[in-house]
Amino acid sequence: MCGIVGYVGPKSTLEVLLGGLRRLEYRGYDSAGVSVISGTGLDTRKKAGKLDNLIAEITNHPLPDAHIGIGHTRWATHGAPTDGNAHPHIGGEAAKLSLIHNGIIENFYELKAELVEAGTKFASETDSEVAAHLVAAEFEKTGDLPTAFTNVVKRLRGAFTLLAIHEDQPDVVLAARRNSPLVIGLGDGENFLGSDVAAFVEHTKRAISVGQDEIVILRAGEIEIRTFDGAPVTPVEFEVSWDASAASKGGWSSFMAKEIADQPQAVADTLMGRLASDGSVRLSEIDGLSAEDIKNIDRIIMVACGTASYACDVAKYAIEKFSRIPVQVELSHEFRYRDPIVTPNTLIVAVSQSGETMDTLMATRYAKEAGAKVLAICNTQGATLARESDAVIYTHAGPEVAVASTKALVAQITAGYLLALFLAAGRGATPKAELARLGKELLQMPESVAEVLDGLEGIRQLGKDMANAKSVLFLGRNVGFPVAMEGALKLKELAYIHAEGFAAGELKHGPIALIEEGQPVIVIVPSQRDEDSLHPKVISNIQEIRARGARVIAIAEEGDNQVGDYAEHVVFVPKAESIFASLLTVIPLQVFALELSTAKGLDVDQPRNLAKSVTVE
Ligand code: M6R
Repeated sequence: MCGIVGYVGPKSTLEVLLGGLRRLEYRGYDSAGVSVISGTGLDTRKKAGKLDNLIAEITNHPLPDAHIGIGHTRWATHGAPTDGNAHPHIGGEAAKLSLIHNGIIENFYELKAELVEAGTKFASETDSEVAAHLVAAEFEKTGDLPTAFTNVVKRLRGAFTLLAIHEDQPDVVLAARRNSPLVIGLGDGENFLGSDVAAFVEHTKRAISVGQDEIVILRAGEIEIRTFDGAPVTPVEFEVSWDASAASKGGWSSFMAKEIADQPQAVADTLMGRLASDGSVRLSEIDGLSAEDIKNIDRIIMVACGTASYACDVAKYAIEKFSRIPVQVELSHEFRYRDPIVTPNTLIVAVSQSGETMDTLMATRYAKEAGAKVLAICNTQGATLARESDAVIYTHAGPEVAVASTKALVAQITAGYLLALFLAAGRGATPKAELARLGKELLQMPESVAEVLDGLEGIRQLGKDMANAKSVLFLGRNVGFPVAMEGALKLKELAYIHAEGFAAGELKHGPIALIEEGQPVIVIVPSQRDEDSLHPKVISNIQEIRARGARVIAIAEEGDNQVGDYAEHVVFVPKAESIFASLLTVIPLQVFALELSTAKGLDVDQPRNLAKSVTVE
């Protein structure tokens, strides 16, 4: 949570900082602030609420031209989202140091007590302000900013990315990273810092990921990286593949609407170069896992949170079916703290769009310590998860800006299917001819996803018409079950209404008691065409809820000649291999939530209380 940006160079610092904050606003939007150093010294502006409030504040109280500065967009942890608690925080009586923070300083209470005892006055309720005062005091003692900064960060516990500037050393931005993301952008005579590459991708595509417990001393023409213990670090540069325009709305009403429309491309790009027409899968990125490692896997545990965990649920069905390796799906935060059984033959598959979700990072670190290999499925280059894993399958969804995940999910599901086919071939668990047939079906999916997007008028209208719904239930079986849970999550986070996703078979074990006259239920109906199809069972479930007054909306396969008799409204999606159908059936649910939320006048890109990337536990 929280987005941070830093800049030193000849450009207008304010423009760079505000542009970076605009791209990072998805990380938190409780408040925003900037500090710059100019010929007249340190200046700070900060404001509660979204970035636009800060921009209005700067318009009313302009900042001087400057060539160095830091900016922050906040997701509140310690202290309410007020002007006073907004970052940057100013340190020292002389008020010459400015600091921003992403994360939580766990020992702030003791440190604050120490400062209060020494007479320091605090202007906020945040943990972050402690670091600002400590660095200012240490600088007064040592007279050297990097030394002062290092001495302080070594005292901090918890998770933090810190950026600091000081009026007396106006050519340098200091940064430190522990358990929280930080990336450097390399320019020509200018350099950038950001929580992720989106902060600076419009200025440079050359980047360096900062490692755990490292300090960056950033000047316009020079970058030095050291460990907290002072050892020099040789940086490894990488090229950002995201295009700056991919992170803009491009004429769409919201980032979410654009990202929904991007989904055929996200699926195609994730498959590209990996799946051949004979069904063989090449995953060169997973060279970190040897053929021996793959043969030895006796169990896969998939860890993730939120929407990414539903991608894991879908992948479980495919991996078990095709490779016959047992798969367990775990919410990262539950897995990490329940003493799970992990052995060197367990493969951990960690799925995360951002690659910075702290719960997932903690789960994978725990598993690595227990001797397991970790394979990441991740959308963000240079992310911590990618760097800390033994191998990575990058999803190529491009930057996802809306807080509600859409295209990242379909890319994760696609990567899960690829992994399933890859493992099936590696283990000889599915005949080659069948793998070739499945491969062809999977290659068809980008086109089918595009077709779904063309036929959504009905569900759009339903979303608008149901703006006053108090509760919506979702039912599905097999891969339709995680899709149902995802539909419910989308509605909760975007429209703030009660929604639950159930396995349709579970209905009679309790949830059917929720059904009363007029209760909307969206049902994911499986294909009729399979030999062992679950279609008749789901039709029975529909009849059971209809008999009790439910208003049924079905998502069904084209050509389904029964569902129309039982559902009030049917959204048809193209024919597909049953197990791959999740890529299609999830899309009407995303659009339904988008429309319903928009009809309620809510902000679909930045729903209340949320942040895109949850970098605290
Ligand atoms: O970046 P990650 O994929 O690790 O994020 C995981 C969840 O926080 C995320 O999917 C969240 O549930 C979304 N807001 C759902 O739309």
